[in-house]
Order: sequence, then C-alpha cells, then structure tokens
Amino acid sequence: MMKRLNKLALSLAIAAICGSAIAKNSPADYSNPTWKDKYPEQYASWASTEESTDKGDILADNPNAVILFGGYGFAKDYNKPRGHQYAVTDLTRSLRTGGPMDSSEGPMAASCWGCKTPDMIRMYDQVGEADFSDKKWGAWGHEMSNSIGCADCHDAETGKPTPARPFAMRGFEAAGEKFEDQEDNIKAAMTCAQCHVEYHFDGADHKKVKFPWDGGQNPDAMLAYYDAKNFKDWTHKISKAPMLKAQHPEWETWKVSVHAEMDVTCIDCHMPKQENAKGVEFSNHNVGNAIGNFEAVCADCHDTKADMVELLRANKAEVHSAQAAAEVVITKAHFDAAAAWEAGADEAEMKASLMDIRHAQWRWDYAIASHGIHAHNPSLALEQLAQAKAIGEQARAKLKAILAKHGVNEVTYPDYSTKAKAQVLVGLDKAKLDAQKKKFLEERVQKEWPVKVQY
Ligand code: HEC
Ligand code: HEC
Ligand code: HEC
Ligand code: HEC
Repeated sequence: MMKRLNKLALSLAIAAICGSAIAKNSPADYSNPTWKDKYPEQYASWASTEESTDKGDILADNPNAVILFGGYGFAKDYNKPRGHQYAVTDLTRSLRTGGPMDSSEGPMAASCWGCKTPDMIRMYDQVGEADFSDKKWGAWGHEMSNSIGCADCHDAETGKPTPARPFAMRGFEAAGEKFEDQEDNIKAAMTCAQCHVEYHFDGADHKKVKFPWDGGQNPDAMLAYYDAKNFKDWTHKISKAPMLKAQHPEWETWKVSVHAEMDVTCIDCHMPKQENAKGVEFSNHNVGNAIGNFEAVCADCHDTKADMVELLRANKAEVHSAQAAAEVVITKAHFDAAAAWEAGADEAEMKASLMDIRHAQWRWDYAIASHGIHAHNPSLALEQLAQAKAIGEQARAKLKAILAKHGVNEVTYPDYSTKAKAQVLVGLDKAKLDAQKKKFLEERVQKEWPVKVQY
C-alpha cells in the first residue's frame, strides 16, 4: 500500500513538473489557416475532406428508425457522416439543433459542439469547461469558425498527435488507459477517440461530455453504467420506455477487433504515410477514404482490392439484414407497449418490458450507429444485433401477456412505411421544423455566425 501511495505521489509530482499531457495551444493556433504555410501537405490533405459530400438520409432509407427514435431529435433528422470539413455546417443545419433565436433557447446543450470544432477548446480555455457546458448550444455559434482541425489533435509546440479534449482524457483514465501511459501508435489513434466514441452529457456535472467507461468499454459494461445511474437520453414517445441513444462507438468496437489485436489502428488505415513531390514523407490527413488506401495499407496482409471490396459488400449486407430483423421486433414492441398502456396497464406491470425495450434498442444502436462496423468488427455487430432481436422478443412476449390480462388479443400497427408517415406518428410537424430552421439560418446564422450555412 505504502509503495503504491509513493508511486502515486511521485507521478503527481512529475505531472506537476511536466504540466498536463493534453494539447495546449495559443488562441491563434485554434484557427486552421494558421498552420497552412508551415505544413502544406498535411493542410492540403486535411482540406481535401471537403470532397466527401454524400450525407444520405438515414430516415428516408429506413423509416423504422423514425419510430425507434420517437420523441428524440434523431427522429427529426439523421444523416450519414461525411468529410470533417462539414462538421460545423452539418450540425448547424441539422433539424436536431432546432432554431434558437437567442442564447438561452434550446433544444440542445452546448456540449453538442463537443466533436465538431477546435474553437470549443479555445472557449474552454477562455471561460472554463463547466461554464461553457452550462449554456445552450445556440449560445456559442458566434465563436465557432473552424471545423475539426489541427488544434483538435496537435499541440503546436510539440507537434505530436495529442488530444485536446479534457473529457476524453478523463475517459481514457477512467477506462484504465491513461493517455500518457500508451505507446505512440495508440496515442495517435486516441486523437480519433476524442470523438469517435459513445458518450453522454452528464447532468450531475454541468452537462459536460462524459464517456460511460467507468466499468469498461464493451456494450454490457456501458449499459450497466447507464442502468446503475438511472440515466436516460429520452422517454420514448410511443412506448414511454426510458431510452438510450448509442453514438458512433468506433473506438470501442475497433478495440476488440482482429486489427487491434495486430496493432493496426485507425491511423494505419485512415491516415497512411505518403511522399510529397520531394520524396518527404507525411501522413495523409484525408481520413475519409480507407479503402482507397488498399495498396498502401491493406495489401500488406490482404490479397486483392477486388476481394476486399467484395468482402466489405458482403459484410455490409449481412449486418444490414441482422439489423432489419432486430428492428422489426423492436419497432413493434414500442407499439405493443403503447397498446398496453391504453388497455390500462400500470407502471409496475410495464416496468420489465420497458427495460427490455431499452436494452434491446441499446444493442441495436450500438451495432449500427458505429459507421464502418462492417469493416471494423462485423462479428461484434452481428452478435449485438442477435441479442437485440432476442431481447426485443422477450419484451413482446411480456407485453403480449399484459395485453391479454387487460383483454386485448390483437394489436393493430399503423402505417410507418415512409419517413413522412412515421414522423407524423411520433408527433413531428416537419413543415414547422423546417420553417424554424430557415428563419434561424437566415436571420441569425447568416448575419451573426462566422460559418454561413445556407438553408
Ligand atoms: C483528427 C486528428 C488530426 C487532425 C485534425 C490533424 N492531425 Fe496532424 N496528425 C494526426 C496524427 C494521428 C498524426 C501522426 C500519424 C502517425 O504518427 O503515423 C499526425 C501527424 C502530423 C504531422 C507530423 C508529420 C506527418 O505528417 O506525419 C504534422 C506536421 C501534422 N500532423 C500537421 C497537421 C496539420 C497542419 C493539421 C491541420 C491542417 C493536422 N495535422 C490535423 C492527427 C491529426
Ligand atoms: C473533433 C472530433 C473528431 C475527431 C478528433 C475525429 N473525428 Fe472523424 N468525424 C467527426 C465528425 C463530427 C464526423 C462527421 C462530419 C459530418 O458528417 O459533417 C466525422 C467523420 C469521419 C469519417 C467519415 C468521413 C467521410 O468522408 O464519410 C471518418 C472516416 C472519420 N471521421 C475518421 C476519423 C479518424 C480516423 C480520426 C482520427 C485520425 C477522426 N475521424 C477524428 C468527428 C471527429
Ligand atoms: C483495418 C483498417 C481500419 C481500421 C483499423 C479502422 N478503420 Fe475505419 N474504416 C475502414 C474501412 C475500409 C472503412 C470503409 C468501409 C466501406 O467503405 O465499406 C471504414 C469506415 C469508417 C467510418 C465510416 C465512414 C462512413 O462514411 O461511413 C468511420 C467513421 C471510421 N471508419 C472511423 C474509424 C476509427 C475512428 C477507427 C479507429 C478507432 C477506425 N476507423 C479503424 C478501415 C479501418
Ligand atoms: C497487419 C495486417 C493487416 C492489415 C494491414 C489489414 N488487415 Fe484486415 N485483417 C487482418 C487479419 C489477420 C484479419 C483476420 C483474418 C481474415 O479475416 O483474413 C483481417 C480481417 C479483415 C476483415 C474481416 C473483418 C472481420 O472481423 O471479419 C476486413 C473487412 C478487413 N480485414 C479489412 C481491412 C482493410 C480494408 C485494410 C486496409 C485499410 C486492412 N484490413 C488491413 C490483417 C490485416
């Protein structure tokens, strides 16, 4: 015990001498163009993420998702990720952030800026993380001029890949993986893990961003963490279940993959080294096109690009069909629950089935909200989706018994075959949301905010 305490005291003393390992930058360094002349190749390849423009419409492609997210922002608007250059634009344009005409209006909290811009770190430096996070999202737009950039991942003084987000550093430490203790390749990948992870806003701590990793990073441990805290992201509009939204856990799903086992990280696949015209090596900062790096990266271990493209397609199809199978069950479970409430079931009767719905949907979301899962860890996705379906079926069996007890032997399901129909069912007025957004963009954003987003 004594020894451990001494070690702790020593490491605290060292930390005090060296300062924190987190990136420290001057106000000017938070602006991306500041870095351009010194690092032209890195800058140009980073800027080229602008070429990835496709964002799709997940809700139009899959109206089930509108029902599953009923009562929550993701039922309003949900797109696929695209280039890092678009992070601020897409957040500002999303119907999820609404149309706050002044600093105190919602709907979203300031921590929504958490994974979009280095300007947030500049504001943390200026006003403190707690004061920043206490405010609403709309309170800070006038400060946000840079999309995901150099100071998000680098300390200008050392130039090394270094995370800038204090909440990420706390997350790594809680998971027993302190940044300072990692090998260089993991440190580099931890720059991605600032954002490509599951998180929530901690209501007990100024709505700061928090990673739910205190008990581990696997889906069971994170679910146990949320259950123990009685945390919910929202109450479901149809079933009244206490829901969780899983967010893009790329880091967590990669960590238990075959590639992680072989020390192949996000950086190897998404940021390989290449040479400039003078033969000087640099890291390609266009993170978007991993399969385009086949020859430089994958070919060390995999045969041909054509085989790889086919493997990815097949993996995607398999994940997709497991997703659809789970979705059918969980979507119906929400309607079954609504029918049970209507038939007169009380909270005590409903509790267990609502928890099943929560747990089933968590696993479904964990598997599919992680974009690229078909490349990163398809077997984990399939395992979670199978569990999602099984738990969803348990919910439905329980609800069937409750319904029978209240004299209902058949539930009729409404038509949710299109995004528009499903949005009406979850009580959304799309025209109103669009009008709000238009007003906000034209009368506030285009006049007062540095990133001019068009409607
Ligand atoms: C999302 C995180 C991230 C962003 C954003 C980012 N970098 Fe990097 N950068 C890295 C990582 C990770 C490495 C190290 C790669 C390695 O060690 O293999 C790196 C390496 C570098 C290096 C070292 C030489 C090299 O190319 O490997 C320089 C210089 C650099 N980045 C400059 C920049 C500049 C300038 C910007 C902004 C235009 C920027 N970076 C944006 C993560 C990032
Ligand atoms: C500051 C937060 C942040 C960091 C750090 C970050 N990302 Fe992202 N990433 C995002 C966001 C937000 C998007 C979606 C942007 C959009 O759609 O507007 C995204 C999108 C992506 C995409 C999709 C790109 C496309 O063209 O479709 C890939 C791939 C990606 N990130 C990989 C990485 C890798 C690899 C790293 C580490 C080197 C990294 N990201 C670091 C926030 C981040
Ligand atoms: C073995 C190589 C490899 C590793 C390691 C890897 N990725 Fe990927 N990633 C890919 C490939 C390939 C795709 C694209 C699959 C496709 O196009 O079908 C992808 C897709 C993605 C996407 C989705 C892009 C989109 O537009 O849908 C994101 C985000 C992403 N990766 C981030 C990360 C992060 C963060 C890490 C580290 C935690 C990581 N990746 C580790 C190869 C890798
Ligand atoms: C250091 C070696 C290595 C590199 C580099 C590598 N892989 Fe792999 N990859 C493996 C091994 C080993 C497996 C597991 C055995 C297998 O399925 O062939 C694997 C499996 C896969 C799988 C199947 C995933 C699964 O869990 O079933 C995909 C998809 C994949 N790799 C894509 C890529 C892509 C894309 C790249 C380049 C961007 C890449 N790999 C780079 C070694 C590597």
